[in-house]
Amino acid sequence: MNILGIESSCDETAAAVVADGTRLLSSVVASSGNLHQAYGGVVPEIAARSHLESILPVIEQALKKARLGWPDIDAIAVTQGPGLIGSLLIGLLSARTLAICKNKKLLAVNHVAAHPFGAYLSSEPPALPCLVMVVSGGHTFIALMKKHGQYKMLGQTKDDAVGEAFDKVAKLLGLPYPGGPAVSHLADSGNPKKYTLPDANLPKSYDFSYSGLKTAVLRTAQAIAGKDYTLPSHELPGLLDKAQKADLAASFRAAAIDSLTTALKSAAKAYSPACIIVAGGVAAESELRRQLNDPAWICPVLTPPPELCTDNAAMIASYAYFARKEADPYSLLPKPSLSW
Ligand code: KG4
Ligand code: ZN
Repeated sequence: MNILGIESSCDETAAAVVADGTRLLSSVVASSGNLHQAYGGVVPEIAARSHLESILPVIEQALKKARLGWPDIDAIAVTQGPGLIGSLLIGLLSARTLAICKNKKLLAVNHVAAHPFGAYLSSEPPALPCLVMVVSGGHTFIALMKKHGQYKMLGQTKDDAVGEAFDKVAKLLGLPYPGGPAVSHLADSGNPKKYTLPDANLPKSYDFSYSGLKTAVLRTAQAIAGKDYTLPSHELPGLLDKAQKADLAASFRAAAIDSLTTALKSAAKAYSPACIIVAGGVAAESELRRQLNDPAWICPVLTPPPELCTDNAAMIASYAYFARKEADPYSLLPKPSLSW
């Protein structure tokens, strides 16, 4: 079964074709990321306008790269939410229109639930039960997956997502948007033991809190600069030298990753899963990937290839194959706050 996936929840316009949920035939991603750089974060109106320009060429390219025509496509899967309303609308209305015109089934997909399926495209479907951790810009959670696409939530962040913390730390260090890769790169040249930062794991649970960690980075940076908490964060980059920034980035990254691996190890011990999947944008981070590669884990740990950790449509098409949820192409509406 060939599914065309369409994703447009944030600033990536993406389309992909996946056969039988696991064979990646094509994946095309156009990002409007560079248009948001001057603003330090995604501007919803700019993202939506950019989706409008890119969506049809991106879909056409996905079909072309897969060497398939419309008659070869069995269904269209589209992100229904969560995400930015203007962005979701473009992908969803494109999918609805194409489903009607080309007479295809329409499948509605929850973006967050789909993230782990980036790991289905580089191997056989994972053995179940599988422990799943999603670490993205909007979500951080650990869940148990007993059937493909069905999750039992074990723990989640109570405030900021870990990717959001990476982005905010990047901003206060004067690094460009998107912050995660920039913090990771800078951290490579810093000392992760230089500054002591708080633990983001909440006691006796698999829950996290990243807002305290983020504020601790801010306070530490203000102290290094010889200032108190009243110093506006936008003045910090000019007061810290390169080595201080690198040590802060490295200390933050170590604390953030430690919180993720600690919770994951404790959940793995409690639930004895057949495998573990770690997915979402932060799963592209090099030090986290290195630690997940350690043979000491009690079961195989799968991560999607870096380009399928960040937002893409292949995960949408794969998820739709395993957890099919047929929708009416005449009435499906976007759900910006879709939960699960
Ligand atoms: O999954 P994703 O692409 O979008 C959401 O669904 O949120 O995740 C985006 C997040 C951002 O916070 C970004 O800074 C972070 O993932 N990110 C990274 C890396 N690539 C993306 N963080 C650290 N290292 C990376 N290489
Ligand atoms: Zn995402």
